[in-house]
Amino acid sequence: MAPSVLLIGASGALGRPLVEEFQKQRARFNRVAILADPARAHKFSEVQKNGIEVISGSFLDFKVYQGFDTVLSLVGNALMRLQPAIIEAAVAGGVRHFYPSEFGTDIALDGVWQFRYFRDKVVTRDHLVATAKRVPDFRYTLMLTGAFSDWAVGEFSGIDVEKHTVKVYGYPEAEVSVTALKECHRAVHRRVLLPFPAGQASREIRIRGDHLTWAQLVALLEEIQGVKYQVTYIDPKEAAKKQEEARLRGDEEGEILWAGKTLGPSGKVAVPLPLDNDKFQFKAETLKETLLQVLKGN
Ligand SMILES: NC(=O)c1ccc[n+]([C@@H]2O[C@H](COP(=O)([O-])OP(=O)(O)OC[C@H]3O[C@@H](n4cnc5c(N)ncnc54)[C@H](OP(=O)(O)O)[C@@H]3O)[C@@H](O)[C@H]2O)c1
Repeated sequence: MAPSVLLIGASGALGRPLVEEFQKQRARFNRVAILADPARAHKFSEVQKNGIEVISGSFLDFKVYQGFDTVLSLVGNALMRLQPAIIEAAVAGGVRHFYPSEFGTDIALDGVWQFRYFRDKVVTRDHLVATAKRVPDFRYTLMLTGAFSDWAVGEFSGIDVEKHTVKVYGYPEAEVSVTALKECHRAVHRRVLLPFPAGQASREIRIRGDHLTWAQLVALLEEIQGVKYQVTYIDPKEAAKKQEEARLRGDEEGEILWAGKTLGPSGKVAVPLPLDNDKFQFKAETLKETLLQVLKGN
C-alpha cells in the first residue's frame, strides 16, 4: 500500500517547496496531509485544492495521527523542543515511520552534538533511539544535508550580495558542506516511497553537493559577480559571548540566533562521506550552478 504521510511545519522555509513537490507527486501516495495548529490552519486553504488534506489540531493529540503511517516533521527552531512529545503522540496514534526535522549537518559529529544550536535535535534523536527499542515496528529516517546552497549566501550567513561584504564569526579555512534545496526535496520524496530495509530501525540519508572552505565560497562569489568582496572574520568567541548574554536574560530566540551565526563559518556544517547521492540517480548540482541561478537567474 502506498504511504499515508502527515507533514508538520509545512508552511516554513523548507516546508513550502516540499509541499509543492508533494502536490506534483500526489498520485504516488495514499494520503498526504498537513497537520496545522487551529490558529494557523487558514494558511493552507490553497493547497487543499490540490488534493492535500489539512488536519487542524494539536500536534500533541494522538487522534490527529490516526490513519497515517509516516510523519515528516519540518518544524523550525521555535517548535524543535516539542518533537519528543510529537513522537509520543504520533506513535500512540499508530504512526510507525518518523522523519525528524534534521535537514542539516551531521549532528552526531564531535564538537557539533554538544553545540547549543542543535540541543533539541540531539534530544529528539535520543528519543527516537529509545522509541525504536520500546516499539518493535517503529522506524525513523535521518535526512542529512549541507547548508542549503540556495540560502548559503544571505543575512543568516553574514553575506551581503548587494554590498559585497562578508562579516562572519569564523575562519577562512573553515569547511562547509552544501546541498541544493531541490535535491533534498527529491531525496525526501523518493525515500518516503521506498520500503524500509528489513531488520533495521533507523537509516540515514546523506545528500551533499560541494564541500569547500569559506575562502573558496567567497572567491566563487567574487568570480560570479565580478567584484571584490570586503571580508571580515570575527572570532566566534564574540558570538558565544552574545549567546551567553541572551541565555542569561532568558532570551531563547537570541541565544539560538547567536549560536547559529557561527555554524557555517566555524566549520560545524559537514556531511561526511559516504554519501547517498547515487541512490537517487542525480549528479549533485555544484554551488556555482546554484549561485548562478540565485544571483543571475541562469
Ligand atoms: N540545511 C540548511 O541550510 C537549513 C536551512 C534552514 C532550515 N533548515 C532545517 O530545516 C528544518 C525546518 O526549518 P525552517 O527554517 O523551514 O523552519 P521555520 O520556517 O522556522 O518553521 C517551520 C514551521 O514551524 C512552525 N512554527 C514556526 N514558528 C512557530 C511558532 N512560533 N508557533 C507555532 N508554530 C511555529 C510553523 O508551522 P506551520 O507551517 O504549521 O504554521 C512553520 O511553518 C529545521 O530542521 C532546520 O534546521 C536547514
